[in-house]
This record gives sequence, C-alpha cells and structure tokens, in this order.
Amino acid sequence: MIIAVSGTPGVGKTTVSKLLAERLGYEYVDLKELAISAGIAEPIGEELEIDVERLPEVAESMLRKKRVIVDGHLSHLIPADIVIVLRADPRILGERLRNRGYSPSKVADNVEAELIDLILVEAIERNERVLEVDTTGKNPEKVVEEITRLLREGVTKRVGVVDWTEHYDEIVEYLHIGRHGQNEGG
Ligand SMILES: Nc1ncnc2c1ncn2[C@@H]1O[C@H](COP(=O)(O)OP(=O)(O)OP(=O)(O)O)[C@@H](O)[C@H]1O
Ligand SMILES: [Mg+2]
Repeated sequence: MIIAVSGTPGVGKTTVSKLLAERLGYEYVDLKELAISAGIAEPIGEELEIDVERLPEVAESMLRKKRVIVDGHLSHLIPADIVIVLRADPRILGERLRNRGYSPSKVADNVEAELIDLILVEAIERNERVLEVDTTGKNPEKVVEEITRLLREGVTKRVGVVDWTEHYDEIVEYLHIGRHGQNEGG
C-alpha cells in the first residue's frame, strides 16, 4: 500500500506525512531521499533535479509490497494506491515561504502553483484515487485525523474542496504579476 502525500512546497507535507505514518504504522519515505539513493537525482545549484521520467518505475520497484507514506511534491507522479493532495490558503503559504527566506520569485512560483491547483490537476490526470485536504486553519493533528477518517470510510476520491481565486485580490501581492505592478509604481 503506497500512500502519496503531495502538494505545493511548504504546504505541510513532511509534518503531516510523519504524523500519518506514525498513526497508521506505515513506513515514512522521503521521495527526495529515495531518488538520491536510486541515482536519479542530480544537484543543480541549490536545487535537486529529479528524473521524473524514471521516477515512477524506480519508486514502484523500491516500494512495492511495502506499507509506506511517500512525502514529496512529486509523489503524485508515482504509482500510488491513493494520493493525498494537501492544500493551504495561498496567503498563508506566501507568508510561510517568505519567512523561509525564499526569493520573491520563488514565493511567486509556488503561490501561483497553489492558486491554480497545479498539483491537484496533475494528480487527477494520473490517478483515479485522489483525496484533497485543506489544511487551512487546522493543526497537523486535525489534518491527519481528517485523512485517517476518509481512509477508514473508504473514500477514494474527493476533490474540489477549495477555490483560492475567491481571495485573488489578496493573493496577487505574492505573484509575479503583483510584483511587476509594484515595480512600475502601480
Ligand atoms: N497544519 C499546519 N498548520 C500550521 N502550520 C503547519 C501545518 N503544517 C505544517 N506547518 C508548518 O509549515 C511549515 C512547512 O511545513 P512542512 O515542512 O511540513 O511542509 P512541506 O510541504 O514538507 O514543505 P517542502 O515542500 O518544502 O518539503 C513548517 O514550519 C510547519 O511547522
Ligand atoms: Mg517537506
């Protein structure tokens, strides 16, 4: 049983995955570390470039028959039995990533990805079984409780739980477009 936990960087994947693994008695797997140990990851500057072409087969051969929680923003690309896509209000995500010291450009890339449901869409394209979970205003314990309840109830698909475009006016300051506006004095 492979449970993938994906979502935009900073959304809370590692926090939730470790707790979920503990609750379910599953092994926790960091997908980045798996890729490194399989020799399909290459450091490019400060980033780690993972060969996403080879990732699905490599992950499957390494994880097959195990009971694992796979943590990573590429985990929805592997053949998982179910994919959990964590969501967070882009305004919270933007603040979190700023506090991490990410450049405005990197914050913008990630806030934009969250705004347009990028990972959710990619997950749905590849997997029939996707559970979308909004973490906004919930502590990690509560998020894990929600996931374990859905799994217990046998829910295999639940998507469309958030729409961040409702808050677009407050999100735009984190985006490339908002920053350009500021540079131009608008
Ligand atoms: N449900 C939550 N409520 C409040 N804060 C949270 C929650 N989940 C995680 N956080 C906090 O948000 C930050 C990012 O969490 P975490 O490292 O788990 O995210 P991530 O998705 O694994 O990030 P990355 O993609 O960079 O690995 C941490 O400081 C964590 O304590
Ligand atoms: Mg993480």
